[in-house]
Amino acid sequence: MSMNVVITGATAGIGKAYVEMFAHLGANITLVSRDRDRMQNQVGDLSSRFPGQNFTFEVCDLANELGIQKLEEYLKSHVVDVLINNAGFATNQKFPETDMDAETVAMNVMVNAVMRATHAVLPQMLERGGEIVVVASVAGFLPGGTYSAIKAWNVSFVEGLSRQLKRSKVRISALCPGFTRTEFHERAGISTEPIPNWLWLDANKVVRTGWEDHLKGRVISIPGWQYKTLISLTRILPRKTVANFSGSLRKRSK
Ligand SMILES: NC(=O)c1ccc[n+]([C@@H]2O[C@H](COP(=O)([O-])OP(=O)(O)OC[C@H]3O[C@@H](n4cnc5c(N)ncnc54)[C@H](OP(=O)(O)O)[C@@H]3O)[C@@H](O)[C@H]2O)c1
Repeated sequence: MSMNVVITGATAGIGKAYVEMFAHLGANITLVSRDRDRMQNQVGDLSSRFPGQNFTFEVCDLANELGIQKLEEYLKSHVVDVLINNAGFATNQKFPETDMDAETVAMNVMVNAVMRATHAVLPQMLERGGEIVVVASVAGFLPGGTYSAIKAWNVSFVEGLSRQLKRSKVRISALCPGFTRTEFHERAGISTEPIPNWLWLDANKVVRTGWEDHLKGRVISIPGWQYKTLISLTRILPRKTVANFSGSLRKRSK
């Protein structure tokens, strides 16, 4: 029987790459995002390319309580084998000047929705088995603004929960990409020109590596030799040096 996969942020970038990967793996997929038209088109296209598989979508704005509740209810009332918590966006302001509403939205989409969707799907997964991925970021290892703090929460949440789930049939991992070509930077008004080519990752390769790592039981997946090296260095270098480096990366990408 084919697996049932739910992917948040499925309309673009990394989420869309997950949709393609799981469609090729024969899965039934539920796409979750705000953009009804885009998902309708995707589902139409997927249904004609992958006949016999079931594609559907849920319109949920994970920035607000109603959207998160809608996702929770969906997860509690359907059979779900794989949950990909991916929806997200960049917060790109200096903290003293930042808009608190925008920061609250970021916390809702990338922290509250992740925590509550995971909690909603766990009862059925503890019984039958299941796979959960949280799309974090290498930013979660680098001191920075609120985005880094949110992604550090993702990493810590997954590492902690994976220990609690150790003797269960549920696996959880955090996918931690570096700069990946998606709509992410354009949506946030971040210029990508100063970022050198060798730092860029391809979304399809990122999700394939992440899924391979997940299936091998790796709790943290860092795709790309450049980011593996970088994050290994952050573990041995003084924290201040890492913070300076992280600050210079951020300046380059603005
Ligand atoms: N690209 C990178 O360099 C990079 C690096 C590290 C980590 N990441 C992480 O990867 C994840 C995916 O980002 P991406 O690069 O693929 O960005 P993207 O191309 O901009 O796609 C973002 C996705 O998130 C969805 N989304 C945003 N706000 C939402 C909301 N309020 N409710 C529901 N869905 C929402 C969007 O859907 P709609 O607009 O259709 O609602 C879209 O499908 C994020 O968690 C991001 O932090 C990205």
